[in-house]
Amino acid sequence: MTGGEENRDSELMREWFDATGAVVMGRMMYDTGEEFWGHNPPFRTPVFVLTHRPRPTLVKEGGTTFTFVTDGIHSALDRAKAVAGHRNVDIAGGASTLRQYLAEGLIDELQLQVVPALLGAGLRLFDGPGRLPRRVEPLRVEETPLATHLKYRFVK
Ligand SMILES: NC(=O)c1ccc[n+]([C@@H]2O[C@H](COP(=O)([O-])OP(=O)(O)OC[C@H]3O[C@@H](n4cnc5c(N)ncnc54)[C@H](OP(=O)(O)O)[C@@H]3O)[C@@H](O)[C@H]2O)c1
Repeated sequence: MTGGEENRDSELMREWFDATGAVVMGRMMYDTGEEFWGHNPPFRTPVFVLTHRPRPTLVKEGGTTFTFVTDGIHSALDRAKAVAGHRNVDIAGGASTLRQYLAEGLIDELQLQVVPALLGAGLRLFDGPGRLPRRVEPLRVEETPLATHLKYRFVK
């Protein structure tokens, strides 16, 4: 996207985007991002949006498509895997979407960017054990003035 500056944070984000072949997100994340992402969203891959409300697929500039999936998390993941090739499927959020994939044990790696700002409230990312794997192995902890970038692998 235009603006901003090149720094370690943007390098890490680029690495993440480059490794991603398809994205799954919830309809709330889509709604809050839609206007900000504009005509040329940063994903540049197919994006599968979970919702109970069917909508036609949106084709944006730069390779991003938004396909609205109404038959559940497994269907969205299967469709994302089918187009991701050798790259990762990124379960981008929000919390309610990620919690469902965590509960089914479908997440291999977790990347968190912790920003030094106290909001005092928010949605719980980890709620209810489900089949949540208990052990996580840290793969990377990297701190910049803007964020602490955490990467973990779930030990199954
Ligand atoms: N900090 C970050 O990096 C980050 C990342 C992502 C999101 N967010 C924020 O998190 C907030 C949204 O999180 P959230 O947990 O409220 O919502 P969400 O997970 O983004 O979306 C929830 C919606 O997705 C649909 N959905 C979820 N599971 C479904 C299923 N199994 N089958 C069919 N539809 C399903 C439903 O949409 P319908 O109501 O249309 O049926 C549901 O209302 C936003 O404010 C967003 O900006 C932040």
